Amino acid sequence: MPVVVAANTKGGSGKSTSSLILGTTLARMGATVRVLDADPQRTLVSWSSGQSKYRDIVTAPKPGVDLSDQIDQISAEYQFVIIDVQGSANQELAAAMSRADLVTIPMRAKTADAEVAANAIGLLNSQQKLFRRSIPHGVVFIATNPVITTKEEKHIRESVKQLQIPCFHTSLHERTAFSHMFRFKVAIDELSSKETNGLEAAMENADAYATEVIETLRKARQKGTAA
Ligand SMILES: Nc1ncnc2c1ncn2[C@@H]1O[C@H](COP(=O)(O)OP(=O)(O)OP(=O)(O)O)[C@@H](O)[C@H]1O
Ligand SMILES: [Mg+2]
Repeated sequence: MPVVVAANTKGGSGKSTSSLILGTTLARMGATVRVLDADPQRTLVSWSSGQSKYRDIVTAPKPGVDLSDQIDQISAEYQFVIIDVQGSANQELAAAMSRADLVTIPMRAKTADAEVAANAIGLLNSQQKLFRRSIPHGVVFIATNPVITTKEEKHIRESVKQLQIPCFHTSLHERTAFSHMFRFKVAIDELSSKETNGLEAAMENADAYATEVIETLRKARQKGTAA
């Protein structure tokens, strides 16, 4: 079953946020999901110490057991496996990429962030060479303005396109709901409208992202079967 890895060597680029949005949204849609928190910071394990009804979707890798073997085991049992890895280039990231059906590269639409995101693409390219397979991937912009597309965002989108790096149509906009998931340790659908504005828009945004991920995986699988 598909393995989705969030990868970007830039810290704070939205790996944990996008992984949690995807995991909880797919679970809400009725899928069986595991989110493997392979980042020693354990951001998602800490989230799962809260009261969310989805908290069991988060799991941490067993120490001393090969990560790619663990990914294989989990993906045999669950419909979706989402992996949140540490920012820096490391063994875990390489193991996760080796098993990935889709690598998402979350990043802010900021020039400095785009420069660092190039590292993630470089790493992905070396993994593709190493394993002699093409790994479907795409940039997902995070914390974008939901109302207007800034000049900077337009410019960065254009550069990404020119580099022929695929890009998700759906951006995860700057939404209080997305940061409140961590503040209250719950999923978006468990937040209260008393505490959090724009819940409905955030849910729609999360649904659009999960749907696009499913569609991208489906297309990649078709392409793989056709090749
Ligand atoms: N779409 C969004 N809307 C609002 N806040 C966001 C959004 N995406 C990310 N954030 C906030 O940005 C910060 C960094 O995000 P996150 O922790 O997901 O990044 P990360 O890539 O996992 O970082 P690290 O490299 O430290 O693991 C967090 O405080 C998160 O709440
Ligand atoms: Mg993180």
